[in-house]
Amino acid sequence: MLETKDLTIRFGGHVAVDHVSCRFEAGTLTSIVGPNGAGKTTYFNLISGQLPASEGTVTLGGENITTLPAALRSRRGLGRAFQLTQLFPNLSVHENVRLAVQARDVGRSGGVWAALDLWRVWSDHKAWITEATQVLEQVNLADKAQLPASSLPHGDQRKLEVALLMALDPKVYMFDEPTAGMSVDEVPVVLELIRQLKRRKDIVILLVEHKMDVVRELSDRIVVLHNGQLVADGEPAAVIASPVVQQAYLGMAPEEEAA
Ligand SMILES: Nc1ncnc2c1ncn2[C@@H]1O[C@H](COP(=O)(O)OP(=O)(O)O)[C@@H](O)[C@H]1O
Ligand SMILES: [Mg+2]
Repeated sequence: MLETKDLTIRFGGHVAVDHVSCRFEAGTLTSIVGPNGAGKTTYFNLISGQLPASEGTVTLGGENITTLPAALRSRRGLGRAFQLTQLFPNLSVHENVRLAVQARDVGRSGGVWAALDLWRVWSDHKAWITEATQVLEQVNLADKAQLPASSLPHGDQRKLEVALLMALDPKVYMFDEPTAGMSVDEVPVVLELIRQLKRRKDIVILLVEHKMDVVRELSDRIVVLHNGQLVADGEPAAVIASPVVQQAYLGMAPEEEAA
């Protein structure tokens, strides 16, 4: 479904992602781990198109998307969690999700001209409202649907970010530290959402997460980045036990394990 080949980006002399080659199959959750500054977020940015590759390729469903802008990659099914600051903080939770559902359909049906078809606007409108409600039920935010997005406490905002991603119905879900900054009672809610997504056999899930117990539980596979390079890749137990991980990751950054 998704593949990077020799994917590389240089910032001046610094190689932040260094010839990373990896294939991700539908129906799998892969965690990408590594110390701070290893290049995990940059790798996501290269896949989603937030940053241009210096070298190498990104292929989605057989199509080379290396030079496509981020918005077009998103239409092709690459789903990167939004940050709420990029959205509409003054609109309600429900309106934000509805806009995501709407954007997805408009993107799929040939752009803004299709949306100007009045009959379609009318008939789709109800479907969008219903679907937004369903997504909010799935993430346990239905009771807060009418509140302004900006008024949500931090944990609920992260849930809304997941809801917006689900509303776009991508083929590839990318979660970059989805539980960061959450309180202990909020973490399980987001993990349960990812667990639910994992049941789907038609999507790729990529997860960057520091909490190793979470990684161990959710992953079908673990990829380790270190100084921008892929240094280990395989089944979770084997990768966690491997000397390179014990040394390069767990050994060097015990505070991340505890974080
Ligand atoms: N836009 C940028 N300009 C310059 N350096 C960057 C940029 N983005 C990331 N980096 C550098 O790339 C390296 C990898 O960063 P990052 O991908 O954020 O690591 P991680 O997510 O694994 O903690 C770091 O050294 C970081 O400083
Ligand atoms: Mg990061």
